[in-house]
Amino acid sequence: MNENIHGLVRERYGALAQSGDSCCSPGLYDEFTLTDLPVEVRELSLGCGNPLENADLQPGETVLDLGSGAGIDCFLAARAVGPTGRVIGVDMTPAMLERAETARERMGLTHVEFREGFIEALPLESESVDVILSNCVINLTPDKAPVFREAFRVLKPGGRLALSDIVRVGEFSPALMADRGKWSECVTGAIPLADYTSLMREAGFVEIEVPDMRNADGIIPIQPGMPPLFTARITARKPQA
Ligand SMILES: C[S@@+](CC[C@H](N)C(=O)[O-])C[C@H]1O[C@@H](n2cnc3c(N)ncnc32)[C@H](O)[C@@H]1O
Repeated sequence: MNENIHGLVRERYGALAQSGDSCCSPGLYDEFTLTDLPVEVRELSLGCGNPLENADLQPGETVLDLGSGAGIDCFLAARAVGPTGRVIGVDMTPAMLERAETARERMGLTHVEFREGFIEALPLESESVDVILSNCVINLTPDKAPVFREAFRVLKPGGRLALSDIVRVGEFSPALMADRGKWSECVTGAIPLADYTSLMREAGFVEIEVPDMRNADGIIPIQPGMPPLFTARITARKPQA
């Protein structure tokens, strides 16, 4: 694993967890969806889409959120799967985990838990999860192939994946690549959609679909000279046995 990138990313999201400043676009969820969530969760939505809209969560399901941040998608998933279901958020940034855990306690949710770990080496048993969500996280990892291999390992046969993430069209300039802060701002870690879906296919996923893809302007800070960046929703399935 690339310690430098992980360190940079952890530093940025640790600072955001402590300040409560949101880096990205508000308004990915409608107000009604967010009622009942504590203000510290609503205020720290750092995603680039709403992966739950494509997850079709059912009561009783076990859900894993990769890079759960302050927990927004975990808490929305908890509502969808109900008390007979289970939600696990994994994140590598202690301050984010603390913020999410404080909100969980405040809401009295016993079917949600947050675990510290890397999404490249998930702290979960194989074939233990029905659905995996992730919102604006995989672009941040320096090595994306192990993330999809791990997602495949922990899903039950027939399990599904619903992601929102940043992808690019075109190349980053050397100057942009040299600006280390741009990686943790969800910019230079973005790869082309075709490479992203190839990695998923290589990990074993099938039925890979892209229900929508929109210009990321207004969702992440785009500056002149950047190649076009998009926020894509991507779904896939692990084959039955
Ligand atoms: C852009 S924020 C998104 C948070 C959350 N998904 C949301 O929608 O608000 C990225 C999160 O992913 C976590 N993260 C980034 N790379 C990770 C990795 N390799 N393993 C575990 N967590 C990671 C960061 O600590 C941060 O909390």
